[in-house]
Amino acid sequence: PITREFTSGLPKAELHVHIEGTLEPDLKLKLAQRNHIDIGQQNVEEVQKTYDYDDLASFLAVYYPAMDVLQKEQDFYDLAFAYLQRAAANNVRHVEMFFDPQAHTSRGIAFETVLHGLHRAIVDARALNIDAALIMCFLRDFTSESARQTLIEALPYKDQLVGVGLDSDEHNNPPLKFARQFADAAAAGLHLTAHADIDQKDSIEHIRQALEIIGVERLDHGTNIVEDPDLVDFVSKNQIGLTSCPLSNAFISPEMKGKEVLELLAKGVKVSIHSDDPAYFGGYIADNYYAIASKFDLTKEQVVQLAKNSFESSWISKEQKALYL
Ligand code: HPA
Ligand code: ZN
Repeated sequence: PITREFTSGLPKAELHVHIEGTLEPDLKLKLAQRNHIDIGQQNVEEVQKTYDYDDLASFLAVYYPAMDVLQKEQDFYDLAFAYLQRAAANNVRHVEMFFDPQAHTSRGIAFETVLHGLHRAIVDARALNIDAALIMCFLRDFTSESARQTLIEALPYKDQLVGVGLDSDEHNNPPLKFARQFADAAAAGLHLTAHADIDQKDSIEHIRQALEIIGVERLDHGTNIVEDPDLVDFVSKNQIGLTSCPLSNAFISPEMKGKEVLELLAKGVKVSIHSDDPAYFGGYIADNYYAIASKFDLTKEQVVQLAKNSFESSWISKEQKALYL
């Protein structure tokens, strides 16, 4: 059987992690104190008691308000550096991390404060033998006009970004709402991905839009795609990666989409395993590999293939991929 030592030693790429979702209760408390913010909890146990959710909306209702403690550039640096240290210790060699600028600019934090803090942590973490890049997400429950303004703010710094994504509340917020912003980002040379959260209303239609109209290169979650064989063919032919996050999915679906992941793997689809919001869902990437491997009795070959898929569907150069594969 697969052991924890095996999943943590396995070289891997992390392609689906929200940096704000790596905010651990102890850092949350420390930043609250440093910034004189009353978050209403005094210790780690009290913070953890607020982690009460069983679907996307109830999770997001805990997740976004908690970001108030992130105020200064150094706060964003500390958040990202702590994550990268942990990831490096679990043999994550490459990270493409999401961040949500609108979750911060909407409460008066400058875009540059966020970006500079995260970027500086990425530069410093190179000394830990981990390389990382940033994917800027549009909040899909905000307007497309807000996304447009966010992209305008970001484009002067496009060299510090690898791509754009789409996250937050999917309900009645289809990818098509942001077609223009995705097209503009692609024209600026950025890669494209989008969340297709599991078991959402209009899941298949959202996946179809993301693939056929937006032209995403990856789907985040997206495992509902097994309901539509034509779309499975499409991702298979076009080598679209699907980034599945078992421990995150477990909050919504006890089977954590394990059967779907195995079906996609068997069909040669580039599905891979990631952590989503590890501080909120009870585990980092190696824990996510372990969770699915133990529950579904994966073979070593299957686990290794999932890790290979993570490098193959990453946005590193062919030459760099050759080093890992
Ligand atoms: N889905 C949508 N938005 C998110 C997620 C997610 O899994 N995690 C953080 N923001
Ligand atoms: Zn996510």
